[in-house]
Amino acid sequence: MNDDIERVLYSQEDIAAAVRRLGKQLSNDYRDKKPLVVCVLTGAVLFMSDIIRQMDIYLDIDFVDVSSYKGGTASTGKVELIRDLDSDVSGRDIIFVEDIIDTGRTLQFLEDLVSDRGANSIKVCTIFDKPEGRVVSAKADYVGFNVPNEFIVGYGLDYKGFYRNLPYIGILKPSIYSA
Ligand code: PRP
Ligand code: MG
Ligand code: MN
Repeated sequence: MNDDIERVLYSQEDIAAAVRRLGKQLSNDYRDKKPLVVCVLTGAVLFMSDIIRQMDIYLDIDFVDVSSYKGGTASTGKVELIRDLDSDVSGRDIIFVEDIIDTGRTLQFLEDLVSDRGANSIKVCTIFDKPEGRVVSAKADYVGFNVPNEFIVGYGLDYKGFYRNLPYIGILKPSIYSA
C-alpha cells in the first residue's frame, strides 16, 4: 500500500502536532460548555479518536453519516442523511469533526440539520481544508492544514475505500488512478 504513494504531504508527526494544537484551542474554548463532539463518518474517525484525547474537558460524542453525490453522473450535489445522531442537540454546543472540507456541501447540510433542531452553538473542526473547492459557503472554525487542490489519501481519506489507514497524508501515484 505504501508503494502506491508518490509523495508524503504531511507526516504522522506533522499531523500529531496539529492535533495537539487544535485540542488545546478546543479545551480552552469549551472549558465549561460540555460540548457534543460529532464525528462525520467515515473519513473523520481517525481524527476524531485523536482529537478528543487531546481535550482535557467534559464532553460527549456522537456520530453522523451522510452521503453526497459528487462526481459521476449525479452532479446535483445533493446530500442525504445515512445515519442520524443519537443525541438530542437542542441547547447543546456542537463541534463537528471532519477530515476534510471541499465543496462545503456536507457541512452546510449538517449545520442546517442541528440548527433546525435548536443547537445552542455550532462550530467545525477539520484536520484538512481545501478552500479552493468551495461551492457553497461553509467555513471551518478550527483547521489543521489548508491543502492544495490535489487528491490526497490517508489519515481517514480514501481512494475507492482504501488508504484510510495510512498514518500520514500522501499523494497517490498517477498510475493508481489510471489502473
Ligand atoms: C468526504 C469528507 C467530508 C466530505 C467533504 O466524505 O470526508 O465528509 O466528503 O466534502 P464536501 O465539502 O465536498 O461535502 P465522503 O462523503 O466522501 O465520505 P467518507 O467520509 O465516508 O469517505
Ligand atoms: Mg460517509
Ligand atoms: Mn466524510
